[in-house]
Order: sequence, then C-alpha cells, then structure tokens
Amino acid sequence: MGHIAICYRSRYGTTTEIVKEMVKVAEEAGAKVDAVDLKEGSLPSPITDYDLVIVGSGIQAGRWTKEPLEFIDRHRDKLSTSKVALFVVCGDAGSPEYCDHAQSEYLDKIAAQYPEIAFVSTGLFGGMFDFKRYNFVTRALVKKIVKARLPEGAEVPDVMDFRDWNQIRGWISGLVQN
Ligand SMILES: Cc1cc2nc3c(=O)[nH]c(=O)nc-3n(C[C@H](O)[C@H](O)[C@H](O)COP(=O)(O)O)c2cc1C
Repeated sequence: MGHIAICYRSRYGTTTEIVKEMVKVAEEAGAKVDAVDLKEGSLPSPITDYDLVIVGSGIQAGRWTKEPLEFIDRHRDKLSTSKVALFVVCGDAGSPEYCDHAQSEYLDKIAAQYPEIAFVSTGLFGGMFDFKRYNFVTRALVKKIVKARLPEGAEVPDVMDFRDWNQIRGWISGLVQN
C-alpha cells in the first residue's frame, strides 16, 4: 500500500494521538502517509492519488464530528472508486457490554449511508476520558454518565484510558499490507 490518507477530527486529542501511532506504523511499513485533522487543513493531494483513504472521528453524545462526514459527503463519488476504511474512537468501545452497540451505531450505520462506497474495514477503538481536558460543565456531565456505569460507590478516576495500542497497530498494519 503506497500512499495513504488519514482524514479525521478529534475534539479532545485522543483521536489525534491514535492517528499519530497509525502514521508511525504505516510509515515503518513503507507507506507514504498524509494525515489531516479536517478542522485544521485538507489533503495535499487529490483523493484519486491515494491507494487507501482512512476516515475517522472521536464520538461525542453518540455522534461523529461533522468535518469527516462532510468530507465523505463531498467526495463520495471519488471515494466510490477508492479503497476506504472508517474508524471511531469512543468510550463505549472500552466496555464489552457496549461494543456491539458502538459498532452498529457509530460505524455500521455510517457505512450504510454510503452504499456506493465499498468500505474495506471499520476500526472500533476505545478512547479516553481525561477529565482535565474538559471544561467545568463537560467534566461534571461526563463524570455523572461514567459514574452511572461503575459499580455502586466507586469513584471516577481522573483518567480512564481504554486505548488498546496493539489493536490499533494491528488494524493499520493489516490495512497497509493489503
Ligand atoms: C462530552 C463527551 C461526550 C461523550 N459521548 C460519548 C458517547 O456518546 N459515546 C461514546 O462511546 N463515547 C463518548 N465519549 C467518549 C469519547 O468518545 C472519548 O473520550 C474519545 O476518546 C474522544 O475522542 P477525542 O479526544 O478525539 O475527541 C464522550 C466524551 C465526552 C467528553
């Protein structure tokens, strides 16, 4: 796999950190990678120049960020003739009981909106709750939601990191090799 695009958006930095690792692994495998946070920039080459286009987002309140979805909408014709993979980074992927829900709501439903695109893979990755990164209101809200999922009486830790780096490395390695 020669030239790879990774187009994503991260609200609190977790997805950015995951993309950095994907870039490292793909480059070590010999690929040329353009990774772009779509809020900050755009791809340096036309879509048709890429052998693989990966589009991803962090999840908040059940939703993707808007820029990656706008990217797919805008380029759906060209993407229908490209190799395309999707990934999300979310809290639900960190809990076995919510994984199926996350796969169907955050990945399968998005893929189904673009029947003309034959997605080659979807990656469901656990993210992170790092309460220092949130403002006061968001911190209080997310702590309440997280606490409701913990055993009764358990305190919410300052950081909950669900990222499985081996899973992330394995996913990108598999894509680069195909
Ligand atoms: C305000 C807020 C709402 C969230 N809502 C969800 C959600 O509905 N489902 C989920 O699985 N994860 C949810 N999460 C967890 C995020 O997906 C997780 O923190 C992820 O790492 C965020 O990625 P980012 O840092 O790249 O934005 C939420 C996090 C925050 C801060």
